[in-house]
Amino acid sequence: MQQDFTNKTILTGVTPSGDSMHLGNYFGAMKPLVDLGQKSNLPVYCFVADLHALTTVQDREVLEHNIQNVIINYLAFGVDDTERFVFFRQSQVPAHSELMVVLGNFIGLGQMKRMHAFKDKLQKGTDEGNINMGLFNYPILMAADILLYESNLVPVGADQKQHVEIARDIAQNFNRLTGSEVLVVPEPLISEETGKIVGTDGERKMSKSLGNIVGIFDESQVIKKQIQGAYTDPNRIHATDPGRIEGNTVFAYHGLINDDREEVAQLRARYEKGKVGDAEVKERLLAAHQRYFAPLREKRDFYLANPARVAEILEMGRERAERKAAEVLNKVKKAVGL
Ligand code: ADP
Ligand code: TRP
Repeated sequence: MQQDFTNKTILTGVTPSGDSMHLGNYFGAMKPLVDLGQKSNLPVYCFVADLHALTTVQDREVLEHNIQNVIINYLAFGVDDTERFVFFRQSQVPAHSELMVVLGNFIGLGQMKRMHAFKDKLQKGTDEGNINMGLFNYPILMAADILLYESNLVPVGADQKQHVEIARDIAQNFNRLTGSEVLVVPEPLISEETGKIVGTDGERKMSKSLGNIVGIFDESQVIKKQIQGAYTDPNRIHATDPGRIEGNTVFAYHGLINDDREEVAQLRARYEKGKVGDAEVKERLLAAHQRYFAPLREKRDFYLANPARVAEILEMGRERAERKAAEVLNKVKKAVGL
């Protein structure tokens, strides 16, 4: 179904992680976001959720490194297009924190206790008394992030759907209890086609923690190793055996990143007839990877070498975000009698 994004305010937050980005992140989160920037007539709000990161990272150097990493990566991926994106750091717009304090009064303890972020910790054996309040309140901060910009659509991974739903509940409670229409009720936007990129084990979702990734900005030697270890057709012993394309991760990745469609078609045909070995198919994949991500690597290097430009883009984003946030926060304060 084609969705109409005209006049829709789209917003998303990215939790900084210091790890390298992989194909799953790129095709599951970044690329859909950058594509949305092209589809909407309004600028897309995209921010680095640095306050959220504080709930799990309490080492200053690690946090700073993670934040820088995600900023540079996102700029390279395309949010540096300031016509289409308002890119900023959450902590630089204090209205997020201020709104959070107000919104906390419009949600009950019972519902908060049913949130994943909190429940997961309990399930993993953390004692309730040791869960920090930042983590517990995480969904309220996220609701503030969303409601502060009158967001209509919130692109997130499936794991974050519950958090967008609580933002909806908070907005509805607020409007009902204050007898106002101040808060816009948002909807989650979960990308279906590329919702799940399979890992190099051919089995599970590509994920850093599972060690089944193909990176994006890592050294080519690292990428090469990752590709060499990717799952193909286990029943194929010799290169002359006919091979299966279906379930073959190497061909799945060719489909995503190899811009030379003719080459892909030929490789597929030869593979099915037993006329090409896995090694060659993987070499071509590595070459395709180098081509596909070359412009992004270049841009990333540019921003790494130009911190002043990075600061300038973030400052521009902060200013624009703050203007909108102040407007909504004022309406909220008025509605509650502050
Ligand atoms: P990881 O699982 O590697 O730790 P994150 O949880 O940091 O990845 O994911 C960051 C973003 O990338 C999320 O929006 C998530 O939905 C998306 N993402 C991660 N892995 C995949 C995948 N294999 N397929 C599709 N999207 C993914
Ligand atoms: N919690 C989200 C994640 O871990 C990041 C996030 C924070 C977010 N605030 C948001 C996403 C607001 C969408 C909207 O991925």
